[in-house]
Order: sequence, then structure tokens, then C-alpha cells
Amino acid sequence: MLKIALSKGRIFNETLPLLAQAGIEPIEDPETSRKLILNTNQEEVKLVVIRATDVPTYVEYGATDVGVAGKDVLLEHGGEGLYEPVDLQIARCRLMVAAPIHALPSRGRLRIATKYINTTQRYYAEKGEQVEVIKLYGSMELAPLVGLADQIVDVVDTGNTLRANGLQAIELIAEISSRLIVNKATMKMKSKQINQLIQQLQLAVNKTHEKR
Ligand code: ATP
Ligand code: PRP
Repeated sequence: MLKIALSKGRIFNETLPLLAQAGIEPIEDPETSRKLILNTNQEEVKLVVIRATDVPTYVEYGATDVGVAGKDVLLEHGGEGLYEPVDLQIARCRLMVAAPIHALPSRGRLRIATKYINTTQRYYAEKGEQVEVIKLYGSMELAPLVGLADQIVDVVDTGNTLRANGLQAIELIAEISSRLIVNKATMKMKSKQINQLIQQLQLAVNKTHEKR
């Protein structure tokens, strides 16, 4: 049995064509089915639908053998117990610091709102800057608009969400794409099956980018 953890939406949709090239196709659609464990055309392979931020945890504990997670989520999780063998080059975006376009220079310690608190604390510690980090679970863009924070740390793709809220990106923390992650023990115990999957997915990624 091989259990693959995926989050609904962007990651599921963008991983599907790559999995199809590796011969794995779901029989059920997660957008219409309420089931969290989906059968595929291969009896031995199941897709497990998990919240994006929880994917590394399921793989770390071996509850699923492999998974697909954004580098932003992996940086925040820390990556213990995991290998990251393939950059799937999907769900590409950038982890950035953003601030109001007309922000006045701040006096005193900056307040930064984010769901990426570990990454943000690390980033400012490396710069030697003292900041106050406020944990949010979503809609970070709102925080500077209502005076909760001076700046935010969030992922940016087109920049439309920032623009719509009078914010602009000011610093790049990391380029982000989604990775195949593998539980370290699984890598040893199911090495044949996992190595085959790694090879097939890498090939699928290469083919996708050759076409461009
Ligand atoms: P959760 O449901 O756990 O809060 P989420 O809502 O961030 O997670 P998604 O929006 O599906 O989950 O994002 C999954 C991954 O896709 C993110 O971890 C990030 O790597 C990437 N991502 C997020 N937003 C964008 C975007 N606008 N464009 C491209 N990639 C993105
Ligand atoms: C993410 C992120 C930003 C937005 C950035 O949110 O938290 O709010 O995408 O993308 P942009 O730079 O293209 O505006 P979410 O995944 O909730 O939004 P989405 O599905 O609309 O991209």
C-alpha cells in the first residue's frame, strides 16, 4: 500500500497531471466527494486529502508515506523526519514581506502579522532585527489595514491581493514551489516503490518544462 497526502484545490489540481504521467489516477473527485481517502486506478495506491499545513505532519509520522507540500509550509514545519526528493515546480509563488504603500517610517519595534511565525522569527533574527510577530490563520492582508500590524509575511503570486488592499511587497524571503516529501523510514522500507515514484515524477516534471 502507498498513501499519498495531498491538499484540496491548487496542489491537488496541479499534482494530478504529474501523477497521471506516473500512471496514478484518482477514481473519485475530492471537490465532489466527502471522502478523505480516495481510491485510484491502482488498488495499492490511495490519495489522502489533508489540509495543506498538516501534510508534513502526516508524512513525518508515517501516517502517509509521501505527500506534496509547499516549500513555505515545509520551511515553517522544519522538515524533521522528511526527505524532499523532487521539486514538482507547481504552485509557484514567493514568500514576501509586505507593507502599506503609504506607510510612514515606523517608530520602535515593527509588528508583523503572519501564519508563518517560525520562518518570520528566523528571518528577522538572521537580519538582527527585533520584531513582534503576531500569529494569524488567514487573510493576513487585513492586519495592517486595521492597525493590528505594521507589515505582513505571506505568499505572493500575481500581487493582486496586495494591490487590492493598498499593500506592496518590500522584501523577498524565499522562492516557493511544491515538493514531493517522503517519510524517512518509508524511504528504506518501501524503497523500490518510492524510488519508482520519484523517478516517474521527476520525468513528468522535466517533460512539462521541456514543452515550455
Ligand atoms: P491551509 O488550508 O492549510 O490554510 P492554504 O489555504 O494556504 O492552506 P492553498 O491555498 O491550497 O492552501 O495553498 C497551498 C500551497 O500553494 C501553499 O502552501 C503555497 O505553497 C502555494 N500557494 C499559495 N497561494 C498561492 C498563490 N496565490 N499562487 C501560487 N501558489 C500559491
Ligand atoms: C494566497 C495568499 C494570498 C494570495 C496571493 O491566498 O495567502 O492572499 O494567495 O496571491 P496573488 O498574489 O496572486 O493575489 P489564497 O490561496 O487564499 O488565495 P487564492 O486561492 O485566491 O490565490
